[in-house]
Amino acid sequence: MTALTGAGVSASSGVPTFRDPDGLWKTFRPAELATPEAFRDNPGRVWEWYLWRRGKIAACTPNRAHRVLARWRERFGRFELVTQNVDGLHERAGSTDVIRFHGSVWEVRCAARCADSPEGWPDEMLQYAELPPPCPYCGGPLRPGVVWFGEVIPADTLRRSSEAADCEVFIVAGTSALVYPAIGLVAAARSMGAFTIEINVERTPVSGDVDLSISGPAEEILGLVDDQL
Ligand code: OAD
Repeated sequence: MTALTGAGVSASSGVPTFRDPDGLWKTFRPAELATPEAFRDNPGRVWEWYLWRRGKIAACTPNRAHRVLARWRERFGRFELVTQNVDGLHERAGSTDVIRFHGSVWEVRCAARCADSPEGWPDEMLQYAELPPPCPYCGGPLRPGVVWFGEVIPADTLRRSSEAADCEVFIVAGTSALVYPAIGLVAAARSMGAFTIEINVERTPVSGDVDLSISGPAEEILGLVDDQL
């Protein structure tokens, strides 16, 4: 079994989604905050926004959806978790080896990918003495370890998630199903023979394509399913 999660899975924890009526993209412009160009033009502004988000997320705790999915790794012989979320709540609930499709707000990397720096590393700072913080390897700017609009998904992440899509049951939960290539995993899973299930409080572009579309909050539906196992 494999699950692909989106921002709706963290909504009841208090983490803002992106496209709901009170979502981040209703207040903020992605072009000014979540593109390589935005970082090049104003890295301080981009960093301030990510530090603000870190602060909000730090005050949130995992909900039942996170906890159930964390248990399913032990419950099922093979269970893979792919998330578009950058909040780290799956890991805080106990999930390991999460395939983080869009990276993590809790990681940083050298913006120039300097030769000495690793691909990314954990950094849970809520404030820095200067913005952008300097790369400890080359002194250039550090950037948040997330994938921005217009950037490619790392090859290893694509490979691991494609392998995860080759499963018997594929659950897609709490995502508006608008962002590719992540949502392409649903069709990929179906074409490889998976039974596909969507859990969402609204209909999405994949609702008509999945084998079973369940309307309801992910934390409730996943909890009910877990109770029946
Ligand atoms: P969105 O904000 O686009 O969609 C959130 C979805 O969650 C909506 O379809 C809601 O109906 C649903 N939802 C809200 N509360 C729910 C609940 N309790 N249970 C189940 N569903 C619920 O968020 P994503 O689809 O995750 O990209 O957005 C995809 C990507 O777009 C994000 O990863 C981010 C953003 O730009 C990057 O950060 C690169």
